[in-house]
This record gives sequence, C-alpha cells and structure tokens, in this order.
Amino acid sequence: MPDGPAGGARPLPAPPDPFAPARLGPLTLRNRLLKAATFEGRTPEGLVTDELVAFHRDIAAGGAALTTVAYCAVAPEGRTERRQIVMRPEAAPGLRELARAVHGEGAAVAAQLGHAGPVADARSNRAQALSASRRLSPLSGRFARAATEDDLARVVRGHADAAELAAECGFDAVELHFGHTYLIGSFLSPRLNRRRDGWGGSLPARARLAREVAGAVRERVGDRIAVTAKLNMTDRVRGGLTPEDALRAARLLERDGHLDALELTAGSSLQNPMYLFHGPPPVAEFARAMPQPLRLGVRLFGRAFLRHYPYEDCYLLPLARRFRAALGMPLVLLGGVTGNESVARAMGEGFDFAAMGRALLMEPGLVRRMERQAREGGPAARSACVHGNACMPTIYTRTHCPLADLRR
Ligand SMILES: Cc1cc2nc3c(=O)[nH]c(=O)nc-3n(C[C@H](O)[C@H](O)[C@H](O)COP(=O)(O)O)c2cc1C
Repeated sequence: MPDGPAGGARPLPAPPDPFAPARLGPLTLRNRLLKAATFEGRTPEGLVTDELVAFHRDIAAGGAALTTVAYCAVAPEGRTERRQIVMRPEAAPGLRELARAVHGEGAAVAAQLGHAGPVADARSNRAQALSASRRLSPLSGRFARAATEDDLARVVRGHADAAELAAECGFDAVELHFGHTYLIGSFLSPRLNRRRDGWGGSLPARARLAREVAGAVRERVGDRIAVTAKLNMTDRVRGGLTPEDALRAARLLERDGHLDALELTAGSSLQNPMYLFHGPPPVAEFARAMPQPLRLGVRLFGRAFLRHYPYEDCYLLPLARRFRAALGMPLVLLGGVTGNESVARAMGEGFDFAAMGRALLMEPGLVRRMERQAREGGPAARSACVHGNACMPTIYTRTHCPLADLRR
C-alpha cells in the first residue's frame, strides 16, 4: 500500500517560507511579516511629522515586509481624537515623504483608513460622533447620533477618496478598518445597530456598509494598490457581533471579491478593549494618562471596563482557525505573534501572513533577527515583550514601549 493519508483526505501543502517573497493582491512583498497598525501618537497637528516618518522607517529597516500607518481618518468626526491624520490634500506632502522613506528601506507601506464612529471623542474633535444608532459615549459624555443616508454616502465616498489619495502619495496598500466597533463595526454589531432601515436587522444589512466601502475603494483604486480589511471575528460583548455572524460577513466580503486579504481581529474599543490585546489591563497607567474627571472614573471603574484575558502566544488562533477553514481568500493572523515559533504556527495553519503590533513596538528590528535565526539556525528568536500592555496608554503622548526604554 502506498504511503499517504487514508480516506481521500488531501495532504496540506507544505507551509510557505515566511521569509520568502509573497503576493498580496498586486504587490510582491519581501516576506510574510507585517507591522499591524498601532496608533503612533506622532501627529499633533493631524499631519505627518518627521517623528512619524522615522517610526515607520525604523520598522521598514527592521525587516517587516509592510508597515501600516495607523489610523488615517476619512472624515474629521471620524478621528478617535483631534491629533490624528484626516486624509485630505494638505496631508499629501507628508504622506509622500513617509512612503519614500519606507520604500528606501525595501518595505511596502499601507494606510489604515477608518471612521471611528462611536469610538470618536466628540469633545476633542469638536464634531458630533456618528454611530449606527444614537448612543451616549462614556468617553466624551456626549451623544453620538445615528448616521443618516447622506452621512453614509459621504463615509463611503470618504473611504474611496482617502484610498485614492494614499495611492497618489505612493502607498502600496490600504487597510479598511472594519473592527473594534468603530463606525463600520458599530453597524455589524446587533447591540449597537438597532436600525430598521436597509442598514440594520439581518446580517447582510448590517454588513452592507462594509461591503459598500470595500466596493467603492476597489472601484476607485483598481489594481494600483492592495486593499485589505481588518475585520472583527467577535466583539466579545453580550449582544454584539458573534463569530457566526462575523464569519457570514467574511464570506460575503470574500464573495464580493474586492479585498486582497482579511486581517482577523476581535474586541471592542468601546465596550471590551482588552480583548484586542489580552494580558493585564494597565489601569493605573491609563488613569494617569487621562484628564480629570475621567481619571477618577478610570480609577474607580477601570477594572470592570478593562477586563483581564490571560495572554498566550497566538491567542486569536483558536477563533481564526474557524475562519481559515471556511474561507479561501488570503488571511492575516494577528494577536500575540511574537517570533519564529508563532510565525511557523501561523504558516502551518494555512495563514498567508502574520502581523505584529506590540512585538515590533518593542523591537523594530525583530523581523531581521527572526530571519537570521531561520537562515543560520540557533535558538528561535522571540520578542522580549511581556504583553503587560504598558504601551497602550502611551498613545496619548507618543506611542512607545516603556519596557524597551528601561532595557536601553
Ligand atoms: C499602542 C497600540 C495602539 C494601537 N492602535 C491601533 C490602531 O490605531 N488601529 C488598530 O486597528 N489597532 C490598533 N492596535 C491594535 C493592534 O493593531 C493589534 O490588533 C493588537 O495590538 C494585537 O496584536 P499584538 O499582539 O501583535 O500586539 C493598537 C495596539 C497597541 C498596542
């Protein structure tokens, strides 16, 4: 009897070499390791600064195939707070310079495009926030209003305009933010979306905004750049987006064919932020970063809001595996990817790319170190990040890893 699997099961193809070039839509990336968006806190005037350019140049020089410029808003009220880039002609010269700097180090660059919806701080933005349905924002103490048809048309167009601007500025990709209960995530969530019009109720109606945004972006940029989306697999909130509905949304997006890949995430910046990260919540550090009276609120209620999900490497893999089994399109594994071993797991389970946030905040050169280990042997390279989340509250000043500062 010949060797091989019984019962007609097809053998899994050998996992790809994570350090060999790979296709992402129209792009050829130098490897399969991506820098996930981590808001940099380096845009006090809402424009690219030398510090932001240096941040992404360091990531590119450190070996990642693609670095993601976090959170470029498609409308002024769609910033999470005032100090963020709104994609507009005034931002173009800085974006161009940033793209040039990243390309100079041999990497590609993506802009994360999004509308923060109910996560936006209306007080800071001096503009009322939008959501699927009207709701009080605990952050600003103000009501986000239900988006009107005109708002939604403007938001869809805003994503297409922003993608076109990114392409014109030399960006290689855009990542559409469909996660974390930002505006598009608020439509996906049955808890936040109580609409009775064509944008609420059934899953296809709740996924309509995501699909229209993906379609409008693709139509505008064609194959000039890659278009990906960061999609929640669950909000992990009672009454929120479930894995079953998220999977149905992913299937619809796959069928539409506008996206080159999905990056899989989870949690809600509004209702359950720690699920994004796992690991201990940095309550005291968060409180210190807040002005009064929010500081007192975080001290008193922070532990209820910032729950502790124990950290382990590849903590989103158990959920992401279900998406991998059900979808044929390229998928990016995110969440606790920290070194050679976790990347090997991602590749072995059929993911096309692996993305890293905190590990590269701590050590921008980690990918080079991992690559050296893969080529030359020796112990597997692993980030020294302890996933204590001390980096999270630094978004309010200048995002960095406080532990890396201590080790210097
Ligand atoms: C300081 C910080 C800022 C972040 N900012 C963003 C952001 O702007 N947009 C986003 O989609 N995710 C953001 N994230 C989430 C990361 O992209 C990623 O989903 C999360 O950190 C889990 O990946 P990791 O385990 O590799 O860190 C941020 C994470 C951190 C730590």
